[in-house]
Amino acid sequence: VTREALSAAADALRAAGVEDPQLDAELLLAEATGWERARLLADPDAELPPPAARRFAETVRRRLRREPVAYIIGRRGFRRIELAVDPRVLIPRPETELLVELALELRPRRLLDVGTGSGAIALAVASELPGCEVVATDTSPAALEAARANAERLDLAERVELVAGTLPVDPTGFDLVVANLPYVSEAEWPGLQPEVTEWEPREALLAGPDGLDVIRDFLNDCVRTLSGIAPQTANALDGDGDGAPGGVLALEVGAGQAQEVAGLMLEAGLGAVETRLDLAGIERVVIGRREDA
Ligand SMILES: C[S@@+](CC[C@H](N)C(=O)[O-])C[C@H]1O[C@@H](n2cnc3c(N)ncnc32)[C@H](O)[C@@H]1O
Repeated sequence: VTREALSAAADALRAAGVEDPQLDAELLLAEATGWERARLLADPDAELPPPAARRFAETVRRRLRREPVAYIIGRRGFRRIELAVDPRVLIPRPETELLVELALELRPRRLLDVGTGSGAIALAVASELPGCEVVATDTSPAALEAARANAERLDLAERVELVAGTLPVDPTGFDLVVANLPYVSEAEWPGLQPEVTEWEPREALLAGPDGLDVIRDFLNDCVRTLSGIAPQTANALDGDGDGAPGGVLALEVGAGQAQEVAGLMLEAGLGAVETRLDLAGIERVVIGRREDA
């Protein structure tokens, strides 16, 4: 019955070092049975249909090898959309929703999402800001395929242009550029959970000795190509309400990196640099504005 299946699975997952064994067992059983989690808990004596019991056993076996739940069930919620995810792409994290929230505040006419992965930021913005033209890039062809499939499934393919590389051919004319680029340092890597180091794409995460190699290169590129960030036309963050921000770049960073990235942005010629905190109180987003043009 449900109760026994859940407790046996949770015990096995706990023994394997899984962080939240009870929750994961419930999520996997809900997936295998097609029942809501609430129903599993409300009716612990329900008999499991044998095909569901087999599916559950198979998914628990995968989880015991520390494969993330999102890859096993094949999807992850982000803002209001659900993204298909597999090991070609990073599993979108809740703190990345900060970049989407910033876009909703600034209401750009054209947004560039650099390193789009599953398409999380680009697709969430496109779905919540119907007037916004979105371009998204990634250096990983496999990630771009995954993003394209998500765009089609969410019926947003017309609104989101996917481009291979870092910056589009013509990187000018974007009011807002957002990027959640790799920022994990080599020193941190061995201390991360196996769900990350053994399953998620390394090139989506690792960025050299201090974790800033990719962001440094990106900021250099921005300077070289005249940034792709539209000239500042209004002080966007004052929110004058006319929906014309102009010239903002926002980067997600790792814990402890914000001040250094703020310095790199200033060196790259951006001004009015500020940071935003995530729910854990970590400086998670660094925002700069193009003031020269
Ligand atoms: C941390 S993941 C973020 C994925 C997605 N934006 C999200 O927030 O869930 C970083 C992504 O950037 C891509 N990437 C790495 N280096 C890049 C570069 N130099 N230019 C563009 N994309 C890059 C990786 O392939 C990966 O998909």
